[in-house]
Amino acid sequence: MILVTGATGVAGREVLAALSGHPVRALVRDPAKARALPPGAEAAIGDYADGASLRAALQGVTSAFLVTNRVTHDDDGAFLAAAREAGVRRVVKLSAASVTDAEAVDAITRWQRATEEALRASGLGWTVLRPRAFMSNTLAWTSEVRTGRTVRVLAPTGRNACVDPRDIAEVAALALTRDGHDRRAYTLTGPRPLTPVEQAAELASQLGRPVAVEELPAADARERWGRRHPGPVVEALIESASRQGRDAKVAVDPALPTLLARPARSYRTWVADHLDAFRAT
Ligand SMILES: NC(=O)c1ccc[n+]([C@@H]2O[C@H](COP(=O)([O-])OP(=O)(O)OC[C@H]3O[C@@H](n4cnc5c(N)ncnc54)[C@H](OP(=O)(O)O)[C@@H]3O)[C@@H](O)[C@H]2O)c1
Repeated sequence: MILVTGATGVAGREVLAALSGHPVRALVRDPAKARALPPGAEAAIGDYADGASLRAALQGVTSAFLVTNRVTHDDDGAFLAAAREAGVRRVVKLSAASVTDAEAVDAITRWQRATEEALRASGLGWTVLRPRAFMSNTLAWTSEVRTGRTVRVLAPTGRNACVDPRDIAEVAALALTRDGHDRRAYTLTGPRPLTPVEQAAELASQLGRPVAVEELPAADARERWGRRHPGPVVEALIESASRQGRDAKVAVDPALPTLLARPARSYRTWVADHLDAFRAT
């Protein structure tokens, strides 16, 4: 049995799809969201804050896909302790490409480095996936694009070798189901770096109407995100965009096409497959 955490999130949902045909269980916090799981996926209602729910979800599990996103909590520690107790053999963890950037010392990257280290020290088999920005992050623009308003982003001309979450999921499925990936860390990128301005141009081309982008000043980002995130997370997001502006995220890594024996999906393909989300209603 394979357990997929973060199963209602961007990556976990795609991992469930990529594992179609395998015995799979999804860790879900909200029973209402469990009803939207794909057919064939078993639901385990649980939360990282509830050790008993993790132990129950991990019964009979041999491999697990681990997604955490709370910088202020030790969700990885809680999960890994329960996984060891349950006899799980391997954990495939979603980390981030920034952990390999020497200049990245923001709170999110330091947290990801620590969670990777906890996995490597856990005694469990491990594989770490380090994606660049998800192409799907541009879904955050849907409201502006649908209504013809200007999209505002930090570093609009900074390039990022963004990656399709479906490609991340296919690599995760390989590492969860096949041998040969133990003690490996893979940096996962798309086929070429793109700026937000170029991403908007691709959307505009496929929608057949303009999509305008302008710079969001850091002070406005602080104001906007400060209402939703703790201060260190807001500063980490601003620092991350600043590194993108300095071309720190342009490298294309060969791991993904090598592992999948095909080219990484392009942003053009991602847009074509998600265009309805951006159409005016
Ligand atoms: N987005 C990017 O560009 C990017 C790039 C590189 C790395 N990453 C890494 O990717 C990870 C996030 O992945 P994602 O975007 O797929 O996640 P996501 O869409 O934000 O979803 C988070 C998932 O975790 C679940 N979750 C949150 N708190 C939980 C808890 N206490 N107990 C159990 N489940 C909980 C959520 O469940 P609910 O549905 O109940 O909330 C949801 O399924 C982070 O580690 C991030 O650093 C992201």
